[in-house]
Amino acid sequence: MQNLLIHNATIATSSEVFRGGVLVEGEKVARLYREGEALPSPTEASRFDAGGHLLLPGGVDAHTHFDLDVGFTRASDDFYTGTVAAALGGTTTVIDHMAFGPPGCALCHQPAVYHRLAQRAVVDYGFHGVVQHVNDEVLADMARLRDDEGISSVKVYLTYDYKLEDADVLRVLQRAKELGLTVCVHCENDAAITALRAQYVREGHTQARYHPLSRPAAAEAEAVFRTLMLAHIAGDAHIYIVHLSSKRGLAALQLARAEGQKNITAETCPQYLSLTDEKYDDDAEGLKYIMSPPLRKPADVDALWQALAAGEVDTIGTDHCPFFFATQKQRGAGDFTQCPNGAPGVELRMALLFSEGVRAGRISLPQMVRCCCTTPARVFGAAPAKGDIVPGADADFVLFDPDAEWTVRAEDLHENVDYTPYEGMRLRGRPTHTFSRGQLIAEHGVFLGNEGRGRYLRRTAHPV
Ligand code: URP
Ligand code: ZN
Ligand code: ZN
Repeated sequence: MQNLLIHNATIATSSEVFRGGVLVEGEKVARLYREGEALPSPTEASRFDAGGHLLLPGGVDAHTHFDLDVGFTRASDDFYTGTVAAALGGTTTVIDHMAFGPPGCALCHQPAVYHRLAQRAVVDYGFHGVVQHVNDEVLADMARLRDDEGISSVKVYLTYDYKLEDADVLRVLQRAKELGLTVCVHCENDAAITALRAQYVREGHTQARYHPLSRPAAAEAEAVFRTLMLAHIAGDAHIYIVHLSSKRGLAALQLARAEGQKNITAETCPQYLSLTDEKYDDDAEGLKYIMSPPLRKPADVDALWQALAAGEVDTIGTDHCPFFFATQKQRGAGDFTQCPNGAPGVELRMALLFSEGVRAGRISLPQMVRCCCTTPARVFGAAPAKGDIVPGADADFVLFDPDAEWTVRAEDLHENVDYTPYEGMRLRGRPTHTFSRGQLIAEHGVFLGNEGRGRYLRRTAHPV
């Protein structure tokens, strides 16, 4: 078995920061050393000098859409290009949201499709199930998803073509409660959005700036509150609110928690912490930011940072869903409602949270570790193998140069897309090395791993 000692590091775990090193045996963390403790001899382990830089657990991004089939086109990153970009950004585990399958398909139809798509992945990966209609067979198959596939979460949408009505959402939540599954929910009020989009199109208001107006924060807040109440009716079923974007949505969450509701997890995304709706002012450029929910106001950004610092927002996922601006996004040039929804971000999540969060003094390093690594791994049943640096865990790490100052340029990134929403942003701190199960897979922007090295991650449901 190959032993590796990473020494001379500043180690950040979910609970503390200290100077020391990590001994890796094979693919696992064997033990942690604190400064002053005797290290194994050079014959016992090959050494990697971290140069005093930060060593964090490899990132866990529980919200990607690699190779997403949206009917008329596909997201431009597949499981190879997307996971290479993830690796270069310090993310070593992804949990991907599977696309809708053919109308009426069985719940286990999409995992079979996705096992094939993900064969080229270079970091470890799991899938969230997707419930696109509800009947007795689908509800029965939720147990198969858990037991046969090792999938501990399903997603439902309250908008888009396969939106579920409240009665069906409730049935899914009740069944999830029985099985210990987590239900991820895209929360937007579909009726309001559909009416507003039709109204704007009728009035000839088809520019990108009408996208945020057609999906107001109140539409998110209403759906967040409705979802939480349904989860409560289902016996406080485990609920995961994806891509929370607004102060109003947050208030709905705070209300439910203040009433004592349990098993709520909320995710936000780097874009909602760093960009605002002024990006839609330019008709042409605005298409780059067409995503759902849309970018919001500075007051929303501030509220989300405060909630993250207070532990009210629990995780950061990217909702990585890229489409080429020059071609795919242009479908929305004459009518924003025709633009494929989504934007890239998987490569920059860790750097953005470090720069805008830790270096900016908004959150501590252990808080960053918790929201980017530990909590998503725990909530989705990938811990203790993933999400923290503890003996027995997979040796997944990212080394950060905390003082590197750099400017984001799409041409320097590895995402398979022709723009980044963060173009020109000045960041402090940069991932330099990524280890996955003890293997150095990325170094200073160069991918060193091999195609298909990623492993499928079977995840465990909550105890019932
Ligand atoms: O606009 C977005 N977010 N596209 C990806 C699908 C989703 O809603 O998560
Ligand atoms: Zn969504
Ligand atoms: Zn998404």
